[in-house]
Amino acid sequence: MRKKIVAGNWKMNNDSQQTETLLEELLSKKPENTIAKIVVAPTFVNLQAAVKQTAGSNIIVAAQNMHQAESGAYTGEISVNMLKSIKVNTVILGHSERRAYFHENNALLAQKVTTALAHNLTVIFCFGEELADRQSGNHFNLVESQLREGLFHISESDWASVVLAYEPVWAIGTGETASPEQAQEMHAFIRSLLHTNIGSKIAEETSILYGGSVKPDNAREIFSKPDVDGGLIGGAALKADDFLAIVAGI
Ligand code: G3P
Repeated sequence: MRKKIVAGNWKMNNDSQQTETLLEELLSKKPENTIAKIVVAPTFVNLQAAVKQTAGSNIIVAAQNMHQAESGAYTGEISVNMLKSIKVNTVILGHSERRAYFHENNALLAQKVTTALAHNLTVIFCFGEELADRQSGNHFNLVESQLREGLFHISESDWASVVLAYEPVWAIGTGETASPEQAQEMHAFIRSLLHTNIGSKIAEETSILYGGSVKPDNAREIFSKPDVDGGLIGGAALKADDFLAIVAGI
């Protein structure tokens, strides 16, 4: 059964007090039972406290990244076992900002995916085209290569731990949200790739989230599309009322 998910990627925002305050507001205002699984991704320094604060709730805490190695001389990095040691079992990988600013290419992301899945983490795998790719009609090829080179190496059983997040880079943080039709067109393409290359059961059961300027006033229509299974939210995730309004749009 395909899961409905709304995940908040907080990026490099919120110190420890702001994290506690935002989580407190989410915990107090969110409906008891939501159709969507709710995920929040604070920064590394706030993960352990967030896990403790949300214990017993239906809010899942995710990391925004992790290193591909188990341990070693990688100053400033965080390993999968460090995340597991604080009960973080979900990680976002391949976000366009990691790809752009930290030069994470498909080959490196394939290693990160392998390490995360080998340790039974759930991976939210991000991908999406630049505006130039779409304007030149190359967006489908680009997305296909990101999936083939970054993700399609995994075993059939690992797909149960994978959530896909299509985030057209031109829609991230710009207010230029993809239209519901554009989102559905790409999500249907991605699902057809899964059907062809992986298998129909996995294609039907894999959640594909849309990310890129999702707001309370556009979420419901985007989420209403048959191949859109939720959203990966940036700016709007930093305000409890906006984030919960998006959750309600599922
Ligand atoms: O990972 C989600 C993020 O990239 C989307 O950001 O601010 O456009 O919702 P935003």
